[in-house]
Parts: sequence; structure tokens; C-alpha cells
Amino acid sequence: MKNITIAIDGFSSTGKSTIAKELATKLKYVYVDSGAMYRAVTLYAMQHNLISEEFFLKERLIDALNNIKLAFKFNPDLGFGEIYLNEVNVETEIRNMKVSRLVSKVAEIPEVRKKLVEQQQQMGINKSVVMDGRDIGTVVFPDAELKIFMTASAEKRAKRRFDEFLDRGEQVTFAETLKNVEYRDHIDTTRKDSPLVKAKDAIEIDNSTLTRKEQFEKVYKCALEIIGSD
Ligand code: DC
Repeated sequence: MKNITIAIDGFSSTGKSTIAKELATKLKYVYVDSGAMYRAVTLYAMQHNLISEEFFLKERLIDALNNIKLAFKFNPDLGFGEIYLNEVNVETEIRNMKVSRLVSKVAEIPEVRKKLVEQQQQMGINKSVVMDGRDIGTVVFPDAELKIFMTASAEKRAKRRFDEFLDRGEQVTFAETLKNVEYRDHIDTTRKDSPLVKAKDAIEIDNSTLTRKEQFEKVYKCALEIIGSD
């Protein structure tokens, strides 16, 4: 058995993190949610009045980057690491609609990406890691042994996200959620630095046609083929 790096990229709300967590648990690998890191930096910017719908003090955020300490701490009850921003658990807060609306603007900044990519590469240095995001197979781990690219229609993804908001008691409409999904798709795929693209050697999985179990089995089989091949 060899230790490998697994990169799972794709559009928002395609179920990347569900698959990535399941896979990490099954393989006893570390799971890293790279999107949570961009969200936590966004939360920091919100807390320090550096960003809102109306303004964005980009340079001030860049200057403050050294004050932002991110860490994942394993929660045995959940079976994965929760994100801490300067020693505070922000796992729930970073998922709210306000952060979702602003995060793409923060993720466009090259200085932010550089800092987070370095930290992500460090987390994967010993392999045995499953990381999900937008640029994991293209930028963070271009040599990952297994790369998965997940897609699904915007409507299907918005429904997923909308149900999550409802579960958490957030007051949002489906139309607003769909608009947010489409807006983030646009920014994620058109930004200059590390846009969301499928790596040439990634296996594409369309979430619109497969059940969650089928998706997991497909990805798990791919992983075993590589892990067991030595
Ligand atoms: O996966 P998510 O929806 O939690 O990601 C939040 C945002 O962070 C998303 O709009 C794009 C950005 N992101 C990124 O640019 N690169 C990554 N590796 C992960 C997320």
C-alpha cells in the first residue's frame, strides 16, 4: 500500500466535501477543506471592517495577512478537522450567506492565494491527504496521484446549498441561493489567478447523474487501484 495525495476539485456545492470526508475516513487519511480557509480569511476581513457588499479595503487585508492564523483541529465526534481562526472555532460561522457572498472577492487576491496555497502544500507534505477546493489538482498538488473533478447543474447545486441554509435556520430564498451559486461560478472560473479548471489528468464526475453512494464507490475504486498498485 502506498500513501497518495487525493485532489478533489469542482464547482461549489457539488458534494465535493462529502465525498472527500468519506474517502478520508475510509482510507484513514487527513481531510482538508481548502474552501474553509478562504472563508475564514473572509470572516477575518468582515470582523475587521475590511469588506462588505459596498467596499473592500484589499490592501489593508493584504497587510493584515500575517495576523491571520488558520489551523484545523481534529474533532473526534465529527471525524474531521474543524477550522480555527486565531484560535477560535469558526467552522459554523464561515458557512453563512454573508461569507458566501463575499468569499469569491477574497479568493481572487493573489497574495491571499499564495499564503493559503503554501499552507495547504505544507499540510500535504506527508501525503495521505484528501484535499478539496478549486485549484488543488492544478496548483496546490499538480502531481497528486488521484485527481477528481466534480460537476453538476447550477440548479441542483443551489438546491443542495438552499437545503443546508434551511437546516441551519438561515432566512434565504432559493432564487438568492441560485444567484449566489452562479455568481461564484462566474468569479471562480474567470479570475486571473488559478481559475477553476479541470486538470488534464482529472477524472470527471457529474453529480447530476450519480447517487451519492455511486459517486463514492467510483472514487474509492479509483483510489484503491492506485494505492494497491505498488
Ligand atoms: O468550497 P467552498 O464553496 O467552501 O469555497 C469557498 C470559496 O473559496 C469559493 O467561492 C472559491 C474559493 N476557493 C478557491 O478559490 N480555491 C480553493 N482551493 C477553495 C475555495
